Amino acid sequence: MVKASVNCSSLHSPSEFRFLQIWCYFCVGFLSWASVSVAQVAVTTETHEMVRVLVTYHSLTGSTEKMAMGVVEGAKSVPGTEVTVKRVGDVTAEELFESDALIVGSPVYWSNMSGEVKTFFDNWQFKFGVFPEFKMQNKVGAAFATGGQVSSGKEVTMLTILAAMLGNKMIIVSEGGAFGASATTEGHSPGIDRQELTDAQTLGKRVAEVAWMIKRGTSESIKE
Ligand SMILES: Cc1cc2nc3c(=O)[nH]c(=O)nc-3n(C[C@H](O)[C@H](O)[C@H](O)COP(=O)(O)O)c2cc1C
Repeated sequence: MVKASVNCSSLHSPSEFRFLQIWCYFCVGFLSWASVSVAQVAVTTETHEMVRVLVTYHSLTGSTEKMAMGVVEGAKSVPGTEVTVKRVGDVTAEELFESDALIVGSPVYWSNMSGEVKTFFDNWQFKFGVFPEFKMQNKVGAAFATGGQVSSGKEVTMLTILAAMLGNKMIIVSEGGAFGASATTEGHSPGIDRQELTDAQTLGKRVAEVAWMIKRGTSESIKE
């Protein structure tokens, strides 16, 4: 702390005193302007940071892929968000670790996630080396699913994806339904309808928003 003291007895005239008063006002004004400017620069720098969202999925007949594109669209709608979309088999360890958020989509296979998606998660241990350091810790995670029938495993599929994420200390969010975005693709509801696509977009958007909240919160706590 810098202390400034003025010996009033050394001031010879009212005009000198007036000059000192104006000088003090000027200094206070300048310091206020400078601190606001520095804060603005900090905010600008922060907003130039990117949030990286990785969307990955398995799809044989295109329905889950269509949902994935909706998720991508939603995530991209959040300014400053960089989105990568890949099939589960093509994701690299670098892409996984560089991401701030991961959204995984699967078709329902026998009331659960498909083998490809399960293999993706199983690879985290030996192929990607996620464990034992918990390298996915505090990244945002979310799930989406498509299934042929109305009630035949979509929720289990999303929950098992989320369970794998929780086991890796990720921060889970949902949107669309309680556990994520989902679509029924066969029987009386073939393909992906408008509402299902909207749910996928909303999921992507929310994940990007939460990833931003966490990224900003983390940088704030690092500053303290
Ligand atoms: C091997 C296999 C198992 C399936 N099991 C289920 C199931 O248990 N419940 C269900 O609702 N749909 C089931 N389906 C249908 C798919 O989940 C559905 O068609 C899905 O939308 C396909 O996604 P895709 O077009 O992205 O490949 C199964 C499909 C296959 C190929």
